[in-house]
Amino acid sequence: MKILVATEKAFAPAAITQIRGVTEAAGYKLALLENYKSTAELLSAVADADGLIVRSDLVTSELLDAAKNLQIVVRAGAGYDNLDLAACTAHNVVAMNTPGQNSNAVAELAFEMMLFQARGGFTGKSGTELRAKTIGIHAFGNVGRYVAEIARGFGMEVYAFDPFVSGSDMASHGVQQCNSSEELYSKCQYVSLHMPANDKTKKSIGYKLLKLMPEGAVLVNTARKEVIDEEGLVKLFDERRDICYLSDIEPDCKAIFDEKFKGRFIFTAKKMGAQTEEANINAGVAAARQIVDFFKTGNQKYKVNL
Ligand code: 3PG
Repeated sequence: MKILVATEKAFAPAAITQIRGVTEAAGYKLALLENYKSTAELLSAVADADGLIVRSDLVTSELLDAAKNLQIVVRAGAGYDNLDLAACTAHNVVAMNTPGQNSNAVAELAFEMMLFQARGGFTGKSGTELRAKTIGIHAFGNVGRYVAEIARGFGMEVYAFDPFVSGSDMASHGVQQCNSSEELYSKCQYVSLHMPANDKTKKSIGYKLLKLMPEGAVLVNTARKEVIDEEGLVKLFDERRDICYLSDIEPDCKAIFDEKFKGRFIFTAKKMGAQTEEANINAGVAAARQIVDFFKTGNQKYKVNL
């Protein structure tokens, strides 16, 4: 049995050591394809893999055609919008994710960007504090819950909107429920996005919603760039000189921001919310354990395809 770790953005070395430990203890061989530069490299590496661990790497029909022995792919992370689930099912491949394993790292990045922006990029000019500010968590899942915990530590007033989570669940985390996204955006000086990218959420955050935000508001996106309607975002930035956008990964319209909106945004060049040693170990080891368990016992917990 061969388990392949194929990551265009490599795990921390300590995570690989532990993934290797789990895999080899089960009697399987671990192969690594890290920092690959072309699809051709990936297609050749998967040719004899029985199990596959990826991050945001695209698992396409073409890859599945090339991976003749593949039985399971685990996305070491939460969002599985990079997996072609229908193609996995058609190729008889079980697809899984590892929910919750990298959530704290993503939540911390949201605050790291907020603090950097609130203090004017550490340039020495007078900034603002997070205490007593309102923060709205849009989608109250694993990351949203860590954001709430950290926000409360900063003394922020915490709100959330999530149509799938009850008010009592939110209240047990010290969070006040909003009944609509409109209410959330109207109330909050900071809004932090934590929904997956799917047909319902793509381009769902746009001009109409964002213009409800109060004076000096900050939109924080550690979810996916695809959930933003960028045309609407640019229109809002043209009209409102007080709004800031902090995003873990550059939007497609980055050139417009560079040209027109200097000082009002932070964009990471590579998605790095989950890029900590701890998150890499948690998600990578969970992925390896899920594969071993699947091969040894048939356990399909965390399966995301039908
Ligand atoms: C996730 O969905 O788990 C995060 O976006 C992390 O993605 P990454 O593994 O590519 O860093």
